[in-house]
Amino acid sequence: LASVGLVGLGVMGRNLALNLSRRGYKVVVYNRTKEVTDRFISGYGGSGLTPAYSPDEVARKLDAPRIILLMVTAGKAVDDVIRSISPYLSSGDVLSDLGNSHFRDTQRREFSLDPSGIHYCGVGVSGGEEGALRGPSIMVGGPSKAWEILKKPMSDISARAFDGTPCASWVGEDGAGHYVKMVHNAIEYVVMELIGECYGVFKALDFSNGEISDIFQLWNEGRSKSYLLEISAKVLRRKDELSGGDLVDKILDSAEQKGTGKWAAESCLELGVPAFSFAVAALDRSMSSFKLVREKASSLEPNRVNKPNLGRREAQEALGTAFSGAQLCAYAQGFSLLEAARNEYGWHTDLAEVARIWQGGCIIRADLLKQIREALLSGAHDSILLDPDIHREIVKCDKAWRNVVSRALEARIPLPGFTSTLAYRDSLFTERLPANLIQALRDYFGAHTYRRVDREGVFHTDWSGG
Ligand code: 6PG
Repeated sequence: LASVGLVGLGVMGRNLALNLSRRGYKVVVYNRTKEVTDRFISGYGGSGLTPAYSPDEVARKLDAPRIILLMVTAGKAVDDVIRSISPYLSSGDVLSDLGNSHFRDTQRREFSLDPSGIHYCGVGVSGGEEGALRGPSIMVGGPSKAWEILKKPMSDISARAFDGTPCASWVGEDGAGHYVKMVHNAIEYVVMELIGECYGVFKALDFSNGEISDIFQLWNEGRSKSYLLEISAKVLRRKDELSGGDLVDKILDSAEQKGTGKWAAESCLELGVPAFSFAVAALDRSMSSFKLVREKASSLEPNRVNKPNLGRREAQEALGTAFSGAQLCAYAQGFSLLEAARNEYGWHTDLAEVARIWQGGCIIRADLLKQIREALLSGAHDSILLDPDIHREIVKCDKAWRNVVSRALEARIPLPGFTSTLAYRDSLFTERLPANLIQALRDYFGAHTYRRVDREGVFHTDWSGG
């Protein structure tokens, strides 16, 4: 009998199955379309993979307790597979959804399977196709009992953190795995936004793609070392096979999204977490897709963008510093959202553990996660920016960060990522915000009341009488 069942043989599913089988697991694989299963098996037969052609066959071919991994498109397909396979499962089996499902769907599914004794897990998997094959970062959410069963296979196939430990862990009950993955993606959106904005400033200063690639590569050898910088340097070097020149210049400037970034922004609004940049990064993808309106608008102001008043060397250094400060603020917003969510949903999410399993395999893997983990271990739960070492870093970035942002704004370059991270940093470190005036106005027109700085209680003023 096999030890793991894998349902859904798209590229992620196929790669996970191969990863498991390479690590010595016997995997029973199943896809709704028989030909897909046959094609996969004929390509990789004899390597510990066994085909199944129906959900009950998957169940029959697995050792107890069964481990079934679903790698199907998030949404209705997940409910369909659960409905088709759960009648053949028994109490104690583990059914896991490894796609990018909304955490509320995961909560609902876990709740409905609970009476059957089947352990339902929502598992965040990051690393794309390559990660699935060679070692992703794996964020398991669900009953802790299920983790006892999943721990070995998930650890075996995962990437490694800086200390060599597996990038797979239990991150909390019910929807927590998918929530943590959603926050991972929100950080991914912001960091990509920041890299994009750096590229935009360099372009305005007439740097070539090759030069920008070299700069990203250089940054990637220093403090900001991260997977996203590494691949940005590579992307900028790629030539276009269809018409020559640099491929990046031929790509339409309209970025798409599948939903996780938007969900994170929605969750910020719902939980009242001021992660400005999550909303901004998702919405700037929408702005990029407003291509036709932007074309019309920009024709009204030809040549509106000036060259920023920055020397090339100065720009390179200041942007590098600004990027490292802004990147810290992106992660800070993510951990602050996770902290609020674990309190709201009663999850036992260990934030330092999240910072550890993001160190390898995932899209936002970055050297700074080492420092972030240490900050979280020493209790910086209010905000990692309050950790003395991280705070010192942020302060060090300040001058260059503000200088480059002001110069670029004067030149009319849009910088939603840089300005929102800076606004986040400034607001967080401002003891008295002008929200007292907002409260006064609310009370003026709606009698919404206000609290005072000098005495307890709730107050209302008859403003018209004053
Ligand atoms: C990962 C990625 C992966 C994917 C997302 C982002 O961690 O491997 O985050 O899950 O790239 O779907 O997608 P969008 O940019 O399309 O929202």
